[in-house]
Amino acid sequence: MTGGAPLPRERGPLSAAVLEVLRGGGPVRGPDAAAADPFGDDLQLALYLAYEPHYRDLAGVAAEREWDPALLGLRRPMEEAFLAALRAAVPAARAEGADGGVAAAVEELLVDPVDGEGVSYRLAADGDWRGVREYLAHRSLYQLKESDPQVWLIPRLEGQAKASLVAVAYDEFGGGRGERVHARLFAELMEGAGLDSSYGRYVDVAPAATLATVNVMSLFGLHRALRGAAAGNFAVLEITSPPGARRMVKALERLGAQERCLRFFEEHVEADAVHEQVMRRDVLGDLLAREPGLAADVAFGIRATVWLDERWDAAVLTAWDAGRSSLREPLPEPPAGLGDRAG
Ligand SMILES: [Fe+2]
Ligand SMILES: [Fe+2]
Repeated sequence: MTGGAPLPRERGPLSAAVLEVLRGGGPVRGPDAAAADPFGDDLQLALYLAYEPHYRDLAGVAAEREWDPALLGLRRPMEEAFLAALRAAVPAARAEGADGGVAAAVEELLVDPVDGEGVSYRLAADGDWRGVREYLAHRSLYQLKESDPQVWLIPRLEGQAKASLVAVAYDEFGGGRGERVHARLFAELMEGAGLDSSYGRYVDVAPAATLATVNVMSLFGLHRALRGAAAGNFAVLEITSPPGARRMVKALERLGAQERCLRFFEEHVEADAVHEQVMRRDVLGDLLAREPGLAADVAFGIRATVWLDERWDAAVLTAWDAGRSSLREPLPEPPAGLGDRAG
C-alpha cells in the first residue's frame, strides 16, 4: 500500500471539519453534531474518517493523527449522537427471563426464510453483474478490513470467551496463511469482478447506510464500555453469514464468475457454520456467565446490527427498484468477459 487510501469529498460541515483536522491537525471549531442527522451522509462519513486512522493510512494524513485530541474531540459528540439514535431506533429487547433478551435476539437470527427480502436474495434470484459489482463495492468498506474492528474485543474478554473469539479470528485471518486472510480473498473476488480492490477505493461513492454498518463496528469495538454490544455485533456477522454466502455463490455461479470470485463466499459457507456455534455457545455464553450485567448490551448489539443491515438492504433495493444505482455514483459498465469462468 503506497500513499494511503484516497480521501473522499466532504458531505457537509462535520465531514469538512474532520477532513481539515486529518490534513492539517490542530483544533478546528466543530459544527454541532447533535444538530446533524445521526444516520445522514455528513455525520456518517465524518465518523468513518475519524475512525480510519486506527486502521490504515489515508493519503496525505500523518499516522500520528490517530490520537490527535482535535480528531478525538470531533469524534466524541458524533459517537454520542449515533449511539443515542441507535438506542432510540432499535426495537427494545423483550425482557425475557434473566438473559435480557439475548436468546430471543439470537433465535431471530437463526431464522433464514427461503423467500426472504434482501440484496443477497435478489442477487441469487436474478442478479446481474451490475448488481453484484455494486454489492461488492458497498461491502468492500468492511470486507477489505474484515474482522479488524472485532479484534478490539480481545483484550476486553477473559477465559473461554477470549479463547473462543481468538479461535474464530484465527480463521478470519487465514489460519496462519497470508493468502487465506478473508480480506485478501475478498480483494481477489473484487478483482475477478473487474473492480479496483485498493483499500478505500469506494468510500466516496458509499452512501450513509453503508458507512453506518461499518461505523457501528468501530464504535462498539473501540469502547470497552460497549464490549457487550461488540460481542453481539460479531455474533450477528457469524450467524447470518453462511446463508447469505450460499446465496452469493448461487448468484456468482449463475453469472459464470471466475473461480477466484467464489472462494470468499465458499469459505464463509463452510467456516461460519462452525463460527456460528462458537460465537453463540462459547463467546456469548461464557461472556454472559461471567458478566450477566452485559446481557442488555449484547441484545442491543445484536438488534442494532440487524437494524442497520436491514436498513442497508432496503436502501439498495429501493434504488434498484427505481432503476437507479445504489451507490452515490454508478460504477463504470462491467468489463466484457467477466463470466468466462477463466482465471
Ligand atoms: Fe470471514
Ligand atoms: Fe467467520
